[in-house]
Amino acid sequence: MAGEGDALRDRVRAIRAEFDTALRAAVDVSALQSVRDRFLGRKSGSVTDLMKSLGRLSPEDRRAAGQELNALRDLLEARLQEARAGAEERARAETLRHERVDVTLPGRVPARGRRHPLTATREDLEDIFVSMGYEVYDGPEVDDDYHCFEALNMPPDHPARDMQATFYLKDPPGLVLRTHTSPAQIRYMLSNPHPPQVRIICPGKVFRRDDDLTHSPMFNQVEALVVGPGITVGDLKGTVEAFLHSLFGPQYPVRFRPSYFPYTEPSVEVDLGCIVCGGKGCRVCKGTGWLEIMGSGMVHPAVFEAVNQRLGKVVYDPEQVTGFAFGLGIDRVAMMRHGIGDIRLLYANDLRLLEQFPS
Ligand code: DAH
Repeated sequence: MAGEGDALRDRVRAIRAEFDTALRAAVDVSALQSVRDRFLGRKSGSVTDLMKSLGRLSPEDRRAAGQELNALRDLLEARLQEARAGAEERARAETLRHERVDVTLPGRVPARGRRHPLTATREDLEDIFVSMGYEVYDGPEVDDDYHCFEALNMPPDHPARDMQATFYLKDPPGLVLRTHTSPAQIRYMLSNPHPPQVRIICPGKVFRRDDDLTHSPMFNQVEALVVGPGITVGDLKGTVEAFLHSLFGPQYPVRFRPSYFPYTEPSVEVDLGCIVCGGKGCRVCKGTGWLEIMGSGMVHPAVFEAVNQRLGKVVYDPEQVTGFAFGLGIDRVAMMRHGIGDIRLLYANDLRLLEQFPS
């Protein structure tokens, strides 16, 4: 049976040569698995097939051939395992190469928004008043005739109603888009009918039938109301001056001019020394050296009386308490601070303007 043994040895040598070639060509784990299937696979691996054919040999030959094939199988198995470990290691290294983090790269700058100049101005105003102990109060943009006019000492036929070009709602009738933030004074006092100590500001949108360089049909005001025993014009002046100096800087003079509003008596208009020309006179202040900045005055007793009447009891007794109020345009302040000449720019959302403001 020497012939059978030789033939087997030839076959084993051939398989080893084939295996070597196949193993060299297998670069990754899955290719190695194919090599394994091809030689050691249980169904059709060439070594497996050879082992199955041992049954045809005589018992003596079978033992030697069996040992030889077992050794072959173990050898291939060992080399496959070794190659597999190598392939896995290479795959890991490759992954690491891709996943490497370059800590020297500059960070990605997140795209951040920024405050609109109107928002920034409103928040600055709020900060100043909150630091002086004021509460920020919110009122509705759609209000009724009573809060917007009547309780503010403007009965239906009052000529002062013509000062403000009102938007009326068709449906339901009787409602208006508030023309000023002053109704917040009434709403606050009506909803706080306890010992009258009031110190509030109310920032918000207001609406008028107006549209040009310096007037927009929608704009923003801040209302302030202070009520208590013994509040005087001196408190009004001191507060307004402290506020304007805090907002614009202490170098600008503040001037109080007599004026008229139905809900204050006396009423004043407040001017600030022109922040563009410093008071010499320029285009912005129309040569006067002054910029009109707010309406103000001492709360008219008729306003307290209207509130008391609604409350059904005397809470804000004009004999016991006094107060001052003022209202100013946030848009105008923002335009003054930033030298913006056209109010419509504040509502155009043009990035060329908005990007000029710090975030
Ligand atoms: N409501 C006025 C306006 O819209 C501004 C104003 C003037 C508010 C005098 C007040 C005030 O509180 O006392 O022009």
